[in-house]
Amino acid sequence: MTTDSPAGAGGSSASSGTGAPPKTTAKAILVSIVAAVGGFLFGFDSSVINGAVDALNNEFGLTNSPLLAGFTVACALLGSAVGAWFAGPVADRYGRVRVMLIAAALFAISSIGSGLAFAVWDLIIWRILAGVGIGIASVIAPAYIAEIAPAHIRGRLGSLQQMAIVLGIFVALLSDALLAGVAGGAANEFWIGLEAWRWMFLVGVIPSVIYAVLALRIPESPRYLVAKGQLEKAGEVLASVEDTRSPESVRAKIQEIDESLRRDVKPSLRDLKGDRFGLKPIVWVGILLSVFQQFVGINVIFYYSTTLWQAVGFSESQSFLASVINGLINVVSTIVAILIVDRVGRRPMLLGGSLGMTLSLLVMAIAFSQSMPTVSESGEATVGLPGAWGPIALVAANLFVVSFAITWGPVVWVLLGEMFPNYLRAAALSVAAAAQWVANFLITVSFQSLADVGLSLAYGLYTAFALLSFIFVYKAVAETKGKELEDMVA
Ligand code: GLC
Repeated sequence: MTTDSPAGAGGSSASSGTGAPPKTTAKAILVSIVAAVGGFLFGFDSSVINGAVDALNNEFGLTNSPLLAGFTVACALLGSAVGAWFAGPVADRYGRVRVMLIAAALFAISSIGSGLAFAVWDLIIWRILAGVGIGIASVIAPAYIAEIAPAHIRGRLGSLQQMAIVLGIFVALLSDALLAGVAGGAANEFWIGLEAWRWMFLVGVIPSVIYAVLALRIPESPRYLVAKGQLEKAGEVLASVEDTRSPESVRAKIQEIDESLRRDVKPSLRDLKGDRFGLKPIVWVGILLSVFQQFVGINVIFYYSTTLWQAVGFSESQSFLASVINGLINVVSTIVAILIVDRVGRRPMLLGGSLGMTLSLLVMAIAFSQSMPTVSESGEATVGLPGAWGPIALVAANLFVVSFAITWGPVVWVLLGEMFPNYLRAAALSVAAAAQWVANFLITVSFQSLADVGLSLAYGLYTAFALLSFIFVYKAVAETKGKELEDMVA
């Protein structure tokens, strides 16, 4: 994609004659919010399955095939890897807004398909389609915002994306809990003979349609318009998002973009090659940041928490409530992250996050190792966490979410946006984003099988990865705050 400078970079050289950065019209903020609705759908669609897992396993007889059950949850992420990979080239060809409309259509169609699924393979197809939409949204929203935002607030507008993702996750968990609550259980019929779990997917149509309607009302990115030779139109868009630009400064800026597009060679995957280990060291750093961000098991919480809490003896309604609390804590922690990300360095944040995650995951692993057979209120034999271990596990899970959401969640996305030199960015970003979706898939698909052996085994593994992530950052990631990452390669 043809972004010409890193997110959050300094002022534009062609700013208004006064020397001060151009004032931003409300329009720049509004169109960025519209683009970030894509992030909301990314969060919503990826975790909406959380509240449906148990009902799905019963409906489609997956309780005895943990691998297929895991694949049903994880298959969307394979679609996401594909969507992320192709979003850039397609957006360069057909425009950013058209790609948003494609994503919105995929979200709407897959919500209906998943909600009305009659067999597991049918559900899998719809979820893969939803995944393609998620992958597209994970690339197009930050790219569009970076391209349209006036330089002096590009960083802050860019972080709208992570905020939108966590809000989407939260709303999905809340809507799952409300639907299950009203129906008296996810597997119970709720309205016109459809079970609550079906409605969990079907309500996804609402944000998808809102996204499409809003996307139709925002302008194409000026960088894309210049690349297509529509200089006059690009000038109109620029003038509309930066109200203090004089006609001369708009013309100068358009010329600057035009030159930068001509100058920058089209990035290709070949540019990522390095002498040792096949790829350039900086590309490996991007890939490993992505992989560790997923291997600590954060999405096991956001995709499976309702099942997780039931597995250790919480009632269905308590488990839904615990999931909503996880989501809310994620939102609040992300606000904290946005406030401090440009003040505290990236490195101390990642190191602190790794430590916090290692400790909280370790406590979860220990707590889950205490589970014992118990008899539920209805007289059924189940497992449970004795004494204080249930509340301890719940507190540890929330501390884990806090540790992640203040550090690794947003910081990895910020780093992936800023760490690559211009000529590598698009190619390196799509490789790192695709690696992130594959890593997410591996963790998600394996969870149910691991959990069958023992939840403490799953959490013991995530603890080990959190510890390794500390060592990785300590040894391989240099501070980038106020620095070009090209220095880090040297
Ligand atoms: C980050 C991760 C994503 C995760 C989210 C949780 O955006 O990349 O996989 O679901 O944080 O808040």
